[in-house]
Amino acid sequence: MSMDLKGKKIVLGLTGGVACYKAAELCRALVKHGASVQVVMSEAATHFIGTVTMQALSGQPVFTDQWDPRMSNNMAHIDLTRHADAILVAPCSADFMRKLAHGACDDLLSTLCVARPRRVPLLAAPAMNVEMWENPATQRNVAQLLEDGICLFGPAAGSQACGETGLGRMLEADELVEELVASFQHKVLAGRRVLITAGPTFEPIDPVRGITNLSSGKMGYAVARAAREAGAEVTLVTGPTALPTPHGVRRIDVLTAQQMHDAVMAGVEGQHVFIGVAAVADWRVANASGQKIKKQEDGAAPQLEFVQNADILASVAATTSLSGWPYCVGFAAESENLVEFGAAKREKKGIPLLVGNIGPQTFGQDENTIILFDETGHTLLERADKLTLARQLVSEIAKRLERRSLLT
Ligand code: CTP
Repeated sequence: MSMDLKGKKIVLGLTGGVACYKAAELCRALVKHGASVQVVMSEAATHFIGTVTMQALSGQPVFTDQWDPRMSNNMAHIDLTRHADAILVAPCSADFMRKLAHGACDDLLSTLCVARPRRVPLLAAPAMNVEMWENPATQRNVAQLLEDGICLFGPAAGSQACGETGLGRMLEADELVEELVASFQHKVLAGRRVLITAGPTFEPIDPVRGITNLSSGKMGYAVARAAREAGAEVTLVTGPTALPTPHGVRRIDVLTAQQMHDAVMAGVEGQHVFIGVAAVADWRVANASGQKIKKQEDGAAPQLEFVQNADILASVAATTSLSGWPYCVGFAAESENLVEFGAAKREKKGIPLLVGNIGPQTFGQDENTIILFDETGHTLLERADKLTLARQLVSEIAKRLERRSLLT
């Protein structure tokens, strides 16, 4: 479990809705990620979940009443946010959105939101019935909240507790944690579109067998998450992995190198950055069988023939020469002589930035060490977990994009 929220002080506001049951899990997840959580509940929320549960999970007394005498100055609406890093209202009901949109101050949570210092971001996870969400009055409030700089997480679409289906479900606890963590990251890729490949490819031998490699996809998925956290619109073209899609990332699943090539080339137009993290198979089986290959009586092994796959990174880099976009970043998985091979590979691929790593030390691991190669030489990024490295890489890419736009 990452400690991405270590030292962060979060005010977790609960308002009335069935999704309060998810707030318990959210509270626990925030604490596990290192946050200190102060729970404040509206009166309606207490009909859905008890204060005892939230106090036990947060480890701190829960506040519900604006006249609560426990604060020595009796000003809970001021004191609870003065050291906060963010206020997250989850679930945020349709009625509480109305209150926020109008600056209502008729209970502790609404008053506390209006009285928060300007530096404290207000984040809300709407949760309501689909008709309530789509109602024009709610949508007017949504527009007002966004205009006021209040950040909305979700809602998601799906089946609802009321039996209806549609937009209005609160995001799941782990998605909200991802959103909250992202809200603390610098938006260095805001307005940028980023296309990323990740994972291994799988090259069939017959309908039940194939050739693949040891890539787990962890680095590529971490890069996708980091780019999205930095404000980019991210598309992830991925070979087979067992990983969940980073929240807010558009994912396209493929199997073979050829499918990955086709998906990338179909989506490359309009992209600002292309990052090829995938461990693409260099060859596919030319004589793959349509039926399962049977063992021979005489023990003879099947004779496989190979043909080279298209180089996806090179194909994208070739489109760059026409428009100047996308900015291309490659990965090199070597087994030796990384400094020498990495620099040579960057030149050969004709790309501005290449990330080198030692294949056997990264495949399937949670941590990695990488070297960045560009036209000025190489820089080592010390061993760290892949998300930390991915965030450093994203910030290095953003710096280079910035420099490029200053030059053009
Ligand atoms: N790559 C690609 N398409 C391929 C092969 C590789 O897009 N058919 C990309 C990878 O995603 C990575 C970079 O090229 O960003 C380098 O991959 P790597 O396997 O290290 O290099 P190769 O070009 O395959 O060279 P070699 O295997 O000979 O070292």
